[in-house]
Amino acid sequence: MIIFGGTGDLTKRKLIPALSRLQAMNFLPEELHLILSGRRDFQETELINQFKEFFRNNLASDPLFSKGFGDLASRIHYVKSQSEEPDSGEALSKAISMIEGAGAAPVRLFYLAVPPDQFPPILSLLAPLLRNSKDDFCPSRVIIEKPFGWNLQSAKNLNSLLKEILAEDQILRIDHYLGKEAVQNIMVMRFANTLFEPIWNRAFIDNVQISFAEEIGIGSRAIYFDQNGILRDVVQNHLLQVLCLIAMEPPVNSSPDALKVEKFKVLQSLRKINYEKISHDTVRAQYGHSSSQNREIKAYLEEPGVAESSVTETYVALKVFIDSWRWSGVPFYLRAGKRLSTSVTEVAITFKSVPHIVFPFEAGKPRPNVLILRVQPDEGIYLTLQSKLPGMTLKLSSVDMDFSYQKSFGSYRPDAYERLLLDALHGETSLFLRNDEIEAAWEFIDPIIEAWQAEGIKTLSSYPAGSDGPEKAVKLIQETGHSWFPLKDRKK
Ligand code: BG6
Repeated sequence: MIIFGGTGDLTKRKLIPALSRLQAMNFLPEELHLILSGRRDFQETELINQFKEFFRNNLASDPLFSKGFGDLASRIHYVKSQSEEPDSGEALSKAISMIEGAGAAPVRLFYLAVPPDQFPPILSLLAPLLRNSKDDFCPSRVIIEKPFGWNLQSAKNLNSLLKEILAEDQILRIDHYLGKEAVQNIMVMRFANTLFEPIWNRAFIDNVQISFAEEIGIGSRAIYFDQNGILRDVVQNHLLQVLCLIAMEPPVNSSPDALKVEKFKVLQSLRKINYEKISHDTVRAQYGHSSSQNREIKAYLEEPGVAESSVTETYVALKVFIDSWRWSGVPFYLRAGKRLSTSVTEVAITFKSVPHIVFPFEAGKPRPNVLILRVQPDEGIYLTLQSKLPGMTLKLSSVDMDFSYQKSFGSYRPDAYERLLLDALHGETSLFLRNDEIEAAWEFIDPIIEAWQAEGIKTLSSYPAGSDGPEKAVKLIQETGHSWFPLKDRKK
């Protein structure tokens, strides 16, 4: 396995820890070697010591990781490669041949964990390395980390570049949300129970809310984030993928394409939010400075590396409709924000109110049932039901039925990258994205960005850092008679 961007943040924070845990559980092939490739001069030992330092400070309490990293470290190699330098390809090729030696012909798995402007030069460097010299029937696979383009055209260009040297089943476009247990469980919950499917449609569902909230800001990623904004960063990919799993028709079987076909149909049916609808159906905002008794939080514009007059959004809310028989007229509300009051990703599905109330006025009005699919933290499924409050009089009260992963299955849950890396090693592509899905997602996102740009700063609101988001987002859904389901930390 060859990782470009081998000294980068993703490798250190996600890929090495995930591979180490897989190693500890004996999931990795015995003969796996890892070549980390980066632009800097490094000795292997120097790089491994840097990793160790980082892991001591960040992963010391993860015994699975510690157990696996020791073994993995002995199989890590470092090769300096600057894609613009012609002999880089040769250096890599030599390193690969030396490791492969005279033994069987292994599959080569390349991981492009680099910023998108480095994709084209790396792909040309890669072309001669894709076929194992000993075995033409042993094609390599290439994992492409997001962002996959910054608009439809750039995604198309990247897809064409990839297609010049790879077949579709060799291209693994990663969206780590699909590797999350609770995201995969959306499908199991919908299609392994008979309970939900008959009511999973416009006749019973009133609205769907998909929320992504993070307490953290942009950390050290200002350069990347300021050029992209949260719509591109998490909505175009993670949130739309979750929406697909909620809204799609049952796939015909478990083949990778059957799932992708259904997700693609959902993306194609998303009603475009055009220029006239932009203030009605979207809210974009940026966090401002906030201070309370115990803490001061910087405004987005005060973050190091952010352009002085940046209009990049750190919060977005969208009102989305899916033009299909199943979902006609049901609003899907999407919201995503950095520097909010809590960190939660979840889907809240609100069912329709009861058609006729048989209880006396004093008993209280029955509230609609809400099904919450909690992606993180406290992964689980929660259903609010109406119940009689114990007592001599008839009073209705809401209660939660909850299924928590922690309570039912204990604390181990593989990290998304563990699952996806293992799938990539085995050539299992179900949880990776097809080119048409990515392009259809951009077809939906592009008009929003274009309209925001045309409207300029007047479409940008602000919200205090650490709050629940801008007031305008509340109004966006109030207009349709709805309110946001409160985001709460279920551990508190
Ligand atoms: C990444 C985004 O894809 O997902 C980040 O670039 C975001 O901005 C992250 O913080 C969220 O991932 P997770 O797994 O922490 O929810």
